[in-house]
Amino acid sequence: MINVLPGNLANLIAAGEVVGRPASVLKELMENSIDAGADNISVYVEDAGRTVIKVIDNGSGMDTEDAKICFERHATSKISSPEDLEKIMSYGFRGEALASIAAVSRVVLKTRREQDEVGVEVHCTQSQIQLCQQVSTPKGCIIEVRDLFYNTPARRKFLKTEAAELRHIVQEFGRVALTRPQIAFSLTHNNKQLYNLRPVQMFVQRIADFCGISLVKELAAVSTDTSLVNVSGFVGNPTDARKTLGNQYLFVNGRYFRSPYIHKAICRPYEDLLKEGQTPSYFLFLDADPSRIDVNIHPAKTEVKFEDEQMIFEIVTAAVRQTLARNAFTPSIDFETAPTIDFPAISKEAPHFVVPPKIDFDPLFNPFDFDGPHAQVQQQPLPSSNSMDLFVQGKYIIAQSDHGLMIVSVQKARERVFYDSFFPNLAEKEPVVEQTLYPMTISLSPENHFLAIENIDVFGRFGFDLRDLGQNDVVLYGLPSGMSCERKGVEDTLIELLSALRRGLIGETIAQDTATLAHSAAMSMQNMPTKAEAQLLVKELMDCRQCAEAPTGGKTFTIITNEEIDKLI
Ligand SMILES: Nc1ncnc2c1ncn2[C@@H]1O[C@H](COP(=O)(O)OP(=O)(O)OP(=O)(O)O)[C@@H](O)[C@H]1O
Ligand SMILES: [Mg+2]
Repeated sequence: MINVLPGNLANLIAAGEVVGRPASVLKELMENSIDAGADNISVYVEDAGRTVIKVIDNGSGMDTEDAKICFERHATSKISSPEDLEKIMSYGFRGEALASIAAVSRVVLKTRREQDEVGVEVHCTQSQIQLCQQVSTPKGCIIEVRDLFYNTPARRKFLKTEAAELRHIVQEFGRVALTRPQIAFSLTHNNKQLYNLRPVQMFVQRIADFCGISLVKELAAVSTDTSLVNVSGFVGNPTDARKTLGNQYLFVNGRYFRSPYIHKAICRPYEDLLKEGQTPSYFLFLDADPSRIDVNIHPAKTEVKFEDEQMIFEIVTAAVRQTLARNAFTPSIDFETAPTIDFPAISKEAPHFVVPPKIDFDPLFNPFDFDGPHAQVQQQPLPSSNSMDLFVQGKYIIAQSDHGLMIVSVQKARERVFYDSFFPNLAEKEPVVEQTLYPMTISLSPENHFLAIENIDVFGRFGFDLRDLGQNDVVLYGLPSGMSCERKGVEDTLIELLSALRRGLIGETIAQDTATLAHSAAMSMQNMPTKAEAQLLVKELMDCRQCAEAPTGGKTFTIITNEEIDKLI
């Protein structure tokens, strides 16, 4: 037998789609305030949104009738005909958000329009209006959402830790606040103000206020206007990509959205400029005719479908590529004009370059146990690095041996050397923390800051004595034993570790955690070694037990035999 669901049950089901967590409530309320024309929006949250999410705006407000009806499903002032769906410019259009929120919480709304003398207060619980009375209240809306999911214990149980939920809140707050620089926004959590974003004229000023001025210094403007789409905003310098996880923002017609497809289009021009696992920062606006975009495909409205997706892909790629080239972010010498391995340098014309290295190798410490085309060569003795003649070419150290050329990956070699130096410490129950001479304050992006605070114990296990300083800052009192205390390297290692945490790469085994720490520390070293450093690195690599393998996979070096070179030339 088919039953028509009672209204409150239908609302409860719909709420599952719209209200996933406290952050989604915050997003819907902030968007409503923007749609209502507010230029000042204050958000107050308690217990990461579990107990209170309150949004105060100075927008148009509602009259008594609307204040009562707004909690009903499909109650919207934003569209009235099917044609309106074709040209949506407001955030809202479904008339579902407040109904969904009121189905899973206790809502108190106070509102007044400019032209009204008194306002109205409405209490709505489980989709039922409990109270409606006149009240004196400022122009605009105050919506307070209490005890989210109090009537759906299973959903409440699925909420993450306070720090994790707060991170989502900050993320949503930023996504909305970034789209409207002219509007003042503030965010207060448990009586502590986290953000106070002044109204500004330019988008880049809002980025600076929200993400920090240091990020802005690494951005370059994108601007391309085509008949199909207008692409504007900023993309990051590739050399800064290590720091920018979480700073990927894509907006279409002023609305934040996710699109792995467009993300790929933005990242394509960065290929070869970034190390594996790095993502450039971007803040890109696509403006297109609303009739060619469908925002209707996901209830949270974070997915958008373009009619001319492939063309838009090409346009976005071209726009980003142009910006990278114009700002000289694309290397023209290292990658394009010079071959990676300069074979002529070891040709017959330059015999002085080729110094036969001494052989000084203990096979017990170099178990070349992997298979592969060079397996046979790997059984052979390796060059000693003491007097090895080598040179650094791009990402590689190239050394000459009796048998041919040895090509060492700088990154992978560093990983292996770091791994061997960190492992004994991580294997300890209480890792040795080396106190820094002075506490080191490090500023993080808002998201990274919350992630760091949430995982202070993880950093402790790695040997970082890290504490919260508030306002996106953390302070380090100690570092893992064996780690260089050079400031930039430490900062970058932290950021790399945060990126690994986000990708779920931490917490499985000690070996994997050590590999992640080693990888992060190696990634943080952007500089290529000098000749002397390269010699030391190769020597240290040869001293490692499994010197041929990188702890995160792959080889640390390979050898091209003389016979192979003969075949090539
Ligand atoms: N802060 C506000 N100020 C003035 N009016 C508001 C405010 N919030 C909501 N409203 C009114 O309540 C209606 C219902 O809001 P609700 O968020 O449920 O739906 P919507 O915004 O129209 O669509 P969507 O479900 O897509 O968000 C809105 O259409 C608007 O008229
Ligand atoms: Mg809405």
